[in-house]
Amino acid sequence: MRKNKSSKSWIIQQHRDKYFKEAKSSGYRSRSAYKLLELNEKFKFLNNCHSVIDLGSSPGGWSQAIKRNTKNCKILAIDIKEMEKINGIDFLRCDFLEDNSKEKILKFFNDKADVLVSDMAANTTGNKDLDCIRTNLLCSEVINFSRFVVKKGGTVIAKLFNGYDFLDVKKLAEKKFEKVNFFKPNSSKDFSKETYIHCKGFKTL
Ligand SMILES: C[S@@+](CC[C@H](N)C(=O)[O-])C[C@H]1O[C@@H](n2cnc3c(N)ncnc32)[C@H](O)[C@@H]1O
Repeated sequence: MRKNKSSKSWIIQQHRDKYFKEAKSSGYRSRSAYKLLELNEKFKFLNNCHSVIDLGSSPGGWSQAIKRNTKNCKILAIDIKEMEKINGIDFLRCDFLEDNSKEKILKFFNDKADVLVSDMAANTTGNKDLDCIRTNLLCSEVINFSRFVVKKGGTVIAKLFNGYDFLDVKKLAEKKFEKVNFFKPNSSKDFSKETYIHCKGFKTL
């Protein structure tokens, strides 16, 4: 298949990218794995962690990084797209926004999970504002759902965009959690509005 000029230059840029190269040589399926590693370096949520939900897991870089940095940890990866098998990780292919997907997640853990991470991003439409709204909606859904599936002292981390609805998502998180922080890893591209919210300590409603 012939590639056009912009897709060729995207491929060249990817191959020059430090995290892309490191991911290749370390056997990570995506450069995103480094975002998870940086988030963990900052918030240390994988220390003594025995159960993790990885939302938006495909192709599997975050799941691999979680597996490599935990021991005896039950990991449930979820994505609307297929994900190639990773030993020791359970995978559910479903749309997180559907109620029956949430029921499946709840059933998977007898008790609640220690950590919930979400790198979910809505498919791009070409309209940046709409993409931002749709990804931030996923983030709000994660925040709302976390109370039912994350332990009292647990951690919630989710991707969101610093654009439309950002302040609404921040307000929602501050209503539900005692501690709310934001962190943009170095491995997240500068031009991207992507950032991550870190939440701890459910408030009593
Ligand atoms: C940036 S990628 C995740 C990369 C992954 N963390 C890794 O390290 O390989 C975002 C993922 O979110 C998934 N996604 C988007 N909307 C979703 C939804 N409603 N339910 C489940 N997964 C979703 C996409 O299919 C995509 O695979």
